[in-house]
Amino acid sequence: MNLISLEEALQSRTREVREKFKTHLSASFANIQILLNFDRQFIRGEGTKLWDLDGNEYLDFVGGYGSVNLGHNHPRLLEALRRVEQVPKIVQVSLQQLPAALAHNLAQVAPGQLTRCFFCNSGAEAVEGALKIARAATGRPGFISCERGFHGKTFGALSVSGRAKYKTPYEPLLPGCTLIPFGDLEALENALKTRDAAAFIVEPIQGEGGVILPPPGYLRAARELCARYGTLFIADEVQTGLGRTGALFGCEPEGVEPDILCLSKALGGGMVPVGAYLTTEEIWKKAYGSFDTSLLHTSTFGGYWSNTLACAAALTALQVTLEENLPARARENGAYFLEGLNRLKGAYPLLKDVRGRGLMIGIELADQGKGLLSKLSTGISERVAGDFGQVSSLVAVELLNNYRVLTVYTLNNPAVIRLQPPLTVTREELDYVLESLEQILSRRKSFLGTATAGVGGILRTRKRS
Ligand SMILES: Cc1ncc(COP(=O)(O)O)c(C=O)c1O
Repeated sequence: MNLISLEEALQSRTREVREKFKTHLSASFANIQILLNFDRQFIRGEGTKLWDLDGNEYLDFVGGYGSVNLGHNHPRLLEALRRVEQVPKIVQVSLQQLPAALAHNLAQVAPGQLTRCFFCNSGAEAVEGALKIARAATGRPGFISCERGFHGKTFGALSVSGRAKYKTPYEPLLPGCTLIPFGDLEALENALKTRDAAAFIVEPIQGEGGVILPPPGYLRAARELCARYGTLFIADEVQTGLGRTGALFGCEPEGVEPDILCLSKALGGGMVPVGAYLTTEEIWKKAYGSFDTSLLHTSTFGGYWSNTLACAAALTALQVTLEENLPARARENGAYFLEGLNRLKGAYPLLKDVRGRGLMIGIELADQGKGLLSKLSTGISERVAGDFGQVSSLVAVELLNNYRVLTVYTLNNPAVIRLQPPLTVTREELDYVLESLEQILSRRKSFLGTATAGVGGILRTRKRS
């Protein structure tokens, strides 16, 4: 036996890390990262900045897929985790101080009458809990959700998500799930009319679908339709929640009061995994109101209790978000960034679209005809690179390797690059990314040529070996 200590792990170099990834995690994932030169060992983070083993500085515009709202290693979060050093981290058979306080605070800030809270460890778990309570409270079996929507990869969450690629290998999924186009009220009403649906689950802005905003008024009208047909309205705010879109919650601008609200990602301050769903007293009582039903849906690290570190992080993250006015900062800096990106869109046809609100932003790259990359890599890229074989990934590779800016595509729409920096991002950092993008876009031909030739060459070498 040869166990690695924490200290040794922290000292490990690139080659060892790659080897262990290939042997014990995923060789395919490791190989793609290495091929695209996407692989770095980041050993320090502060605000928007990351530093690798060689001391190179990067800007993080992935932001933990929207979880690092406060920036990396916010000092108040680190202090909060130190403050609870002596407190036991998990004790279920009791009523603990921190989960009680966190549930109270979430109820204070949530829209509408969402006074009941359930804790968990991830976005998918929050969605699972939301789907389950919707069934238990309504006695109905079905769910309605949107094409291209993303709610997580556990069975229930996957069943209401919208990309076949992630679903097909696991079928049959949950029965009674209906997918409708996002933003289409008529389709929603048709699906509601059967009165079979326990809930309609929707993201206020589709994140992994490629940062898609619904038409104005959609969320409010959808919420009203759900109420008319006795179907619960679940707002999945795992990605939009806690300031990302320029308001504390993405459904706030339309004054929507959901029946159930899912949170995760930024709830743990980008430091500790934690999730939650909130619901009303009435729904809670119907589903879990008696002693007998109160423990129907729980888990070791979730339910009415949550890990002390998760609660300390979440209590502090929420406080910092409000005290540092992060939603307003996201709104102002997001508008500034979008304006700059739209200017680039006007000047460079490779940038097909720019979308977003607050600092939840996506840029869509123009399709270069089926397989420019494929042609240059004699078709290998399609098989080896999958979603990575798109122009968006080439731009992301270029941003990382030549400008040290971290970005990545959205899961359900690989043509779109997400730009989701911490909400503490500075104007200077935004300007740097705008300038970097402009340099890449302005030399479209040479950039595409070099990037594809580079990747294609590596892929061909790999195929021969
Ligand atoms: C809207 C939404 N819901 C749910 C999830 C799933 O969260 P997790 O990855 O923590 O399971 C995500 C993740 O990206 C998400 O964006």
